[in-house]
Amino acid sequence: MTKAEKPLFQEGAIMQDSLKDKQIVLGVCGGIAAYKSVELLRMLVKQGAEVRVLMTRNAQSFVGPLTFEALSGRPVGRDLFDDAAQGSIRHIEWARNAHAVIIAPATANMIGKLAGGIADDALSTFLLAVTAPRLICPSMNTHMYENMAVQRNLDQLEADGYHIIEPAAGELACGETGPGRLAEPAYIVDRLFHHLCKKDWSGIRVLVTAGPTREAIDPVRYISNHSSGKMGYAVARAAEYRGAEVTLVSGPTRLAPPFGVKTVDVVSACEMAAAVFEHGAEADLIIKVAAVADYRPQTAAAHKIKKSAEEMSLPLVKNMDILKELGEHKRGRVLVGFAAETDDLTEYALAKLKAKHLDMIVGNLVGSPSSGFGADTNQVTLYHADGTQEALPNMAKETVAHVLLDRIHTRFFAKKVDHDSC
Ligand code: PMT
Repeated sequence: MTKAEKPLFQEGAIMQDSLKDKQIVLGVCGGIAAYKSVELLRMLVKQGAEVRVLMTRNAQSFVGPLTFEALSGRPVGRDLFDDAAQGSIRHIEWARNAHAVIIAPATANMIGKLAGGIADDALSTFLLAVTAPRLICPSMNTHMYENMAVQRNLDQLEADGYHIIEPAAGELACGETGPGRLAEPAYIVDRLFHHLCKKDWSGIRVLVTAGPTREAIDPVRYISNHSSGKMGYAVARAAEYRGAEVTLVSGPTRLAPPFGVKTVDVVSACEMAAAVFEHGAEADLIIKVAAVADYRPQTAAAHKIKKSAEEMSLPLVKNMDILKELGEHKRGRVLVGFAAETDDLTEYALAKLKAKHLDMIVGNLVGSPSSGFGADTNQVTLYHADGTQEALPNMAKETVAHVLLDRIHTRFFAKKVDHDSC
C-alpha cells in the first residue's frame, strides 16, 4: 500500500475503554461544523468517557440538543439559569470534576470571549472555572480564521494554557478553500489522549521501528512476513503521548502515521538500516519492533519473472542485522529488541539479547490469534541484561507499550516511575 492509500485517521488506533472513568466536557458553539461534534461525542462515549455537553444558544440552531442528550445519556447544559434548582453552581461542579474539556467547534466569538476573560453564557462561564486540560478546536471561514484579531486571541489562549487544535485546510461549507475546517474527530480524540498523559518522557529522543520489510524478487513480487505494524506503532504513539520526541521508521503497513511522530517510510531491510542509522544517531533509546527480513534475493529481476520450468530456486543473501550493528556501536544509547518466537521463548530471546548486546529484549509469543503478528493483543515477557525477567499477561498492544515504557523509564531514565501514566 502506498503512502497516499493509507487511511488518514484510525479510530481503532486507540484501544477501547481508554477513557473509562474519565469525565469529559464537550462545549459546542454555533458553527456549521457542530454536526461533527456529534461524531466526536460518539467516539468519546465509545472509549468509555462520561461526557457532558454544553451548547451555546447559537449551536442549538445547527444541531438539536436532543441528539447530544441521546448520545451522551445526560442532559445538555444550555443556559446559565436553565436549572432553577442548581443555577450556575452546576457548571462549577462540572468544571471541578472534568478531566478535560473540548470546545468543538470553537467560534471566533467564543475564542474572543475566552481571550478577554468574558463570561456571559453557560459555556464561557464554565470555562473560566476549569483547571483541567482545555482543547480549543477552531472552525470558521478562512478569512475569519486568518483575521489578525482571531490569531491574536488564539495566541493569547495558548499563552493562557489552552491547547489549540489547528483546523484542517480544505473546501469549507462557505465555498472557500483554506484553513478553517474543524479538525477530524479522530485527531481531536488522539490529541485528548496526548494531553491527558503525564509527560514523564519529556526531552527523551526515541526511535522505534515497526512493520515488516519487503525484499523484492522482481517488480511485482517480494519476500515479507505478517507484521502489521500494530505493536511498533503502539509504542511510538505511547511515547509521543508521554512527551518523548519520537521517530518511527516503518516498513509497509496499512496504519496511519501516528500524530506528532516523525514517520519515515521504508520498504526493504537495506532502506530500514539506512533510515535507522541516519535518524537514530541522536536517539537516547532505540526500540526495534520491526520484523526485518533476514534474507533478500541476491538480485531483484528488472522485469517480471516468467513461468517456465517446473521448479525454480531463488538465491538469497543475508541482510545486515541492524540491531546487532547498533549493539556493537552503542554510543550510550539504550537498545531494546523484540523476539517473536513460537517455542522456547526464553532460550531464543536470551540468546538474541546477548548476541546483539541489548539492554532489554521483549520475548513475544507468536502463533496464536491473540498474540503476535496482526493481533490487537500481545503476550510478552521482558528480559533484562541483568538476568531479571517479567512475564506480562496477555494485554492490548497499547497497554503492552505503556508497561514497556514504564519499565524502560524506571531502569534507564528515572529513579521513580509513575505507573498511572495516562
Ligand atoms: O507488527 P505486529 O503485527 O503488531 O506484530 C508485532 C511483532 C510480532 C512483529 C513484534 O512484536 C515482534 O516480535 N517483532 C520482532 C520480530 C522478530 O522475530 O524479530 P527477530 O527475532 O528476527 O529479530 C530480533 C530483533 O532484531 C528485532 O528487534 C529485530 O527488529 C532486529 N533485527 C532482526 C533482523 C535484522 N536483519 N535486523 C534487525 O534489526
